[in-house]
Amino acid sequence: MELSLPAAVGPLSGRVAVPGDKSLAHRAALFAAFADGVSEVGNYPDSGVTRVMRSALASLGFPSTLESGVLRIVGKRQGFPSFKPESVVYCGNSGTTFRLLAGVLAATGTAATIDGSEGLRRRPMERIAEPLRLMGADVKTTEGHAPLVFRPAHLHGIDYTLPVASSQVLSCLQLAALGAEGVSTFRVPGPVRDHTTRMLRVMGARIEEDGLATRVYPLRSLESLNPLIGVLPGDISSAAFLFVAAAIVPGSRITVTNVGLNPTRTGILDVLSEMGASIAISNTRDTFGEPSGDVTLSASPLHGIEIGGSLVVRSIDEFPAIAVAAAFAEGATTVRDAEELRYKESDRIAAIVAQLRALGTDVEETPDGFTVRGGTVRGGVARANGDHRLAMSMALCGLRAPAPVTVCGAEILNESFPEFMPKLAELHCGEAAVLVK
Ligand code: S3P
Repeated sequence: MELSLPAAVGPLSGRVAVPGDKSLAHRAALFAAFADGVSEVGNYPDSGVTRVMRSALASLGFPSTLESGVLRIVGKRQGFPSFKPESVVYCGNSGTTFRLLAGVLAATGTAATIDGSEGLRRRPMERIAEPLRLMGADVKTTEGHAPLVFRPAHLHGIDYTLPVASSQVLSCLQLAALGAEGVSTFRVPGPVRDHTTRMLRVMGARIEEDGLATRVYPLRSLESLNPLIGVLPGDISSAAFLFVAAAIVPGSRITVTNVGLNPTRTGILDVLSEMGASIAISNTRDTFGEPSGDVTLSASPLHGIEIGGSLVVRSIDEFPAIAVAAAFAEGATTVRDAEELRYKESDRIAAIVAQLRALGTDVEETPDGFTVRGGTVRGGVARANGDHRLAMSMALCGLRAPAPVTVCGAEILNESFPEFMPKLAELHCGEAAVLVK
């Protein structure tokens, strides 16, 4: 599929909701499988990556239904029994599904092979396998990558410092620790998103936090987790594309309702407001231990900024969109400390640089980031490179570029935000909605 956006549309305005947060959705489905009873989770996103988690769980004996946005799944009730998957547990492009499931397979002592798409096979997996082995897991990688082969083993608690600030790795180990003998302590080199801790606590697990250390108590065989009943907040990582769209088109003012506002995820709001956009939050609430609220963004002229340190982790998935905001800002924006971007759905540093350059932008690659000089986008043809966030970001360039933008391979956006074009249309974004070919 090619996606074309006309050059320079009019201001965006209105209120929209976005589908539920994918990080929370993955966790809700996986954790609900081990709860005592039936979980019902509303505003559940239906996209490529959430389907993959649901089908992986179905292959382990936990089928789920998704009707009118409500995910329904019947939990296993007590403890962490082992499973007998009939075939390879397939995780598609979803690194979160892969790494969290790996923690569960280790915790349950299940014999299984876990694999994913070619893109997922390029992503580093020794970062989970090594600490899992330290806990006693019998797991082999394929030269550090998927597929991973698990054989039954008993785990014990450990005290471990993660070399990278990764929530997927921490979550994998936290899940493994629930099935281990003895308490585990995990230390991260910087703050990471803490959805696993918050949700497992809501479900009754005992997890303590002390600064950057997390202590996980095992779930004993007769203990069980409480089921989840509630509605997911909207995904701030999907809303980010709408925020950037409004930020780059002069005169825009939009509200995205009930967006997840976990402070480990709100870096995009800090970045856009530092660049000059005006942002207001109202109507705040709390579900599954997660804050959310309505976010109103009004466009103002953007200027370049420097981004590094903990702000990088708090906006780790938003850099393709941030790069687009930078491309329409005055002056240079420099991103540092972001080497982790090289291990995402694509090497996002190289991909952002190559695709913005293809559209005429003055952009420079560095080992741990990039510098974008604003005001230089011309238009033309960009490629999604099998990366959903790159597809949507490059499409956004078309809202403001002086010439039309076409994105090749744009169907990959269905992996995470199939509603991207309809939501832009809901915000009166010109003819955007009809230009999908
Ligand atoms: C995620 C954590 C992040 C993020 C990914 C989802 C999660 O990855 O990039 O899209 O749900 O835990 P890392 O924790 O590996 O940086």
